Amino acid sequence: MTPVFAAPCDNAFVLYVIDQASCETWLQTQPDKVAGWARAQGFKGAIGQVLLVPASDGTGPAMALAGYGNAAQRACQRFTLAAGAEKLPEGIYTLASGGDGGNAIPEAALEQECFGWLMTQYRFDRYKEAKAPGAALVAPEGVDAKAVESLVAAECLTRDLINTPAADMGPDQLQAAAEDLAREFGATAQVTLDQDLLEQNLPMIHAVGRAATARPRLIDLRWGDSGPKLTLVGKGVCFDTGGLNLKPGSSMGLMKKDMGGSATVLGLARMIMAAGLPVQLRVLIPAVENAVSGNAFRPGDVLTSRKGLTVEINNTDAEGRLVLADALALAAEEAPELLISMATLTGAARVAVGPDLSSFCIDHDGDAAALAAGAGRTADPVWRLPFHAPYEPMIEPGIADLDNAPAGGFAGSITAALFLRRFAGDCRYMHFDIYGWTPGAAPGRPKGGTGQGARALFAALPDLLEL
Ligand code: BES
Ligand code: ZN
Ligand code: ZN
Repeated sequence: MTPVFAAPCDNAFVLYVIDQASCETWLQTQPDKVAGWARAQGFKGAIGQVLLVPASDGTGPAMALAGYGNAAQRACQRFTLAAGAEKLPEGIYTLASGGDGGNAIPEAALEQECFGWLMTQYRFDRYKEAKAPGAALVAPEGVDAKAVESLVAAECLTRDLINTPAADMGPDQLQAAAEDLAREFGATAQVTLDQDLLEQNLPMIHAVGRAATARPRLIDLRWGDSGPKLTLVGKGVCFDTGGLNLKPGSSMGLMKKDMGGSATVLGLARMIMAAGLPVQLRVLIPAVENAVSGNAFRPGDVLTSRKGLTVEINNTDAEGRLVLADALALAAEEAPELLISMATLTGAARVAVGPDLSSFCIDHDGDAAALAAGAGRTADPVWRLPFHAPYEPMIEPGIADLDNAPAGGFAGSITAALFLRRFAGDCRYMHFDIYGWTPGAAPGRPKGGTGQGARALFAALPDLLEL
C-alpha cells in the first residue's frame, strides 16, 4: 500500500511541532494544564520526542506535541517530523498553524517533512506481513498533497524494486515492472532481447548478460510527444556476481541492488509522468545479470561497443559501465537536450561520499548549481565529483581504445564516469553514481533499497530544461 495523506476530519488531533529553543516560551503561552503536563513529562522539543496531552475529562488525548529539535540536531537528520511520526499512536493528525510558534517547520521545509512522514508508513511486506505505524497526517495548508504523494509513490516503487531479491527481480521482472509503469501512464515500452541485441548492435549488453539464464535485454520506454527530449539511462544489473572476477561473498551479498539505477530512473520517470511535465521522456534500461558460466565474457577479452570503440576487459566486475555504454550511445544518436545516467557503478563512490550522498558528475557549473538547489528543496543530498579530463589516459592504456577497469583504482568513480562520457557524444550529460541502499534505519528511511538523486533531479528539471 502506497502511503497517502489522511482526509481532513473533525476528530483529528492537532499536532504542535515545537522548536527546542522556544519550547519553554511556547509552553508559557499554553493553559497551565498543558504546560504542567508537558513539563512533568519532560517534553523539551527534542527531535523524535512526542507527547500526547490528555483532555481534562480523561476521554483521550486533547492534542499532541512533537519536537523539532535545534538547528544542530536537524543538520544531522534527514527528516525531522518523521522521527516523531514513527512514535505517535494510531490516529489522524493535523499540524497546528505556524503563527503562534505552534508549528516550527519553515514553509520551505514543509513538503519534504510531509514526504518524510508518509515514508514512515512504507514497509517492504512482499515476504512477511509488516505493520506500519498508524499515525496518519492530514495534508497541511499550502502543501500540494498530490505532488507529495506522487514523490512518495515513486520512492515506494524504487524501494520495492531494489528490495526484491534477484530470484524475483531478474531481467524478466524488471521488464514487467517497466511495462506496468508504461501502461499506467500511457507510455510505450519496447524491448530488445538476447540475440536481437547483437542484430541491433548492442553488443556489450549482450556480452555482459549472456552467461545468465535470464536473457539480457534493453528496455526502451517512451512518453510524451512535445517539449525537450530528456533521456534517462539506468543500470539494470539484476544481480552482480562480478562474473569470472567473482566477488567475494561479503561483497556479493547486497548485489540484488545493482539494478538500483534502473529502479531510480523508473521512480523519476513516474514523477515526471504523474506531473505531466512537458518533455519527451525516454528511459533506457539495460537489464542483465552478471553471472558465471562457460559462455561468460572473460578478463582480457576485447569487446566492440555499439559506438565502435573497443574495450579491453580487465575486470568482469566492472560490468555496469559496459551495459550503460551501449545504452548511452543509442541514446546519444537522437541528441536529447539532456542525457542522464544513474547507476550503482563503483565501490569507489561509496568510499568517497558514503551511503547517504549521491555523487554526480556534470560538465556545466550552472547545471550543478540547479541540481544542488533541487537537492536542498527535497532533502535528497547530492555531491559533485569532477569529470577530471587529466584522468582520461587512465582509461586507455591497453590494446583497445578503452580499459574497463584501470589498474591502481585511483579515482575509481571519476574514471568510470569518464568512461561513460565517451559514449554520450556531444550531449549535455550528467551521471549519478548512487548506492541505492540505506544501511542503517533512520526516520522515514528503513534499512533497504532507497532512491537517490531522483527527487533532487525532479526538482531541478524545470530549471535545467527551462520548463
Ligand atoms: N556493482 C558494483 C559497484 C558497487 C559495489 C556499488 C558495491 C555499490 C557497492 C560494480 O559493478 C563493481 O563491482 N565495480 C567495481 C569496478 C572495479 C572492478 C573497476 C568496483 O567498484 O570495485
Ligand atoms: Zn560489478
Ligand atoms: Zn555492478
